[in-house]
Amino acid sequence: GKSGYDHYMRKEIAEQPRAIRDCLRGRVTELEGTVSLPELEGLETPSSVQFVACGTSYHAGLFGERLLRRRGIHAQTFVASEYDAAEVPIDDGTLVVGITQSGETADTMRALRGAGRAGATTLALTNVVASSAARECDRVLYIRAGPEISVAATKSFASQQVTLSLLANALADTTSRAHLRELRRLPEYVQSVLDDTGTREVAEALADADAYFFIGRGDNAPVALEGALKLKEISYEHAEGFPAGELKHGPLALVTPNTPVFAIVSGRSKTAETIGNVNEVRARGAPVVAVTDDPESVAPHTEYVLEIPETRPSVVPIVANVQLQLVAYWLANALDRPIDRPRNLAKSVTVL
Ligand code: F6R
Repeated sequence: GKSGYDHYMRKEIAEQPRAIRDCLRGRVTELEGTVSLPELEGLETPSSVQFVACGTSYHAGLFGERLLRRRGIHAQTFVASEYDAAEVPIDDGTLVVGITQSGETADTMRALRGAGRAGATTLALTNVVASSAARECDRVLYIRAGPEISVAATKSFASQQVTLSLLANALADTTSRAHLRELRRLPEYVQSVLDDTGTREVAEALADADAYFFIGRGDNAPVALEGALKLKEISYEHAEGFPAGELKHGPLALVTPNTPVFAIVSGRSKTAETIGNVNEVRARGAPVVAVTDDPESVAPHTEYVLEIPETRPSVVPIVANVQLQLVAYWLANALDRPIDRPRNLAKSVTVL
């Protein structure tokens, strides 16, 4: 059942601290700073990694790609339906990772099969034991989110991000002890966001807008895309996400006093630039909601602040996304949408 919540989505958002703990269990030795993923035993460090995925899982790929690149591993993410193994460089050092909660998404399966035929090693990063992806790939790494009933992916996205964080550390020559420590603290960070009830008020105050924009830089750019996807999916409102720097290259034309902008403002050197983008939209009258770990410096520039705890830049997107999940949820709730079963969508998309 829904454990007292009105919707499965709300319940699954609340389950994230537990899901993250389950994902990490037995896989991290913080003291030695090591990651152990027996599923990958014997796998040589790939010369390059290609992520193939759809929707929310695609956004997880964009997140994971950055972690790998930062560790010197070439990585690229593809929308699975656009992936053609004949058009990308594949050799026996290529690892193609299908990120798929359900393990059944037709687009992702086709991409994985094509990659396998072209000689890549394939890895399924999935939530569902014995799913098609789990059975057909050379290797499988479970994200351990537990069953997700709501059509909107929430806890599975957090579990994908955490699993990708482990994967990045496992594939790199050296693991980052500080990164692992922050991953271990992540359930607490997420819990503190869940305990803070400010998001509902902000969502309700903004429920009457024409459209919603989401911006973030660097590690937070994929979360901006995900925030917009979640909102459009369950609220039926128009929402778009952009890397913050892209605003001025077109989308700014759409910004009015009736298009709230959600800005993830974090990541040290990136803060000043993102504040610059925030000021651009405010000059057009748009109300801005900052999701930030630095409320003191950011609050003077925005109408609303949704605070997140301070952590490493690579962990911020996991926490910030929880605020955006709650924004989508409370906005859809204010509009009385059928949150768990949005129109036109299915939990598992098994057609090409
Ligand atoms: C969004 C959502 C979809 C899925 C996409 C991929 O909330 O649920 O965008 O993320 O259909 O599904 P999986 O991960 O099962 O391959």
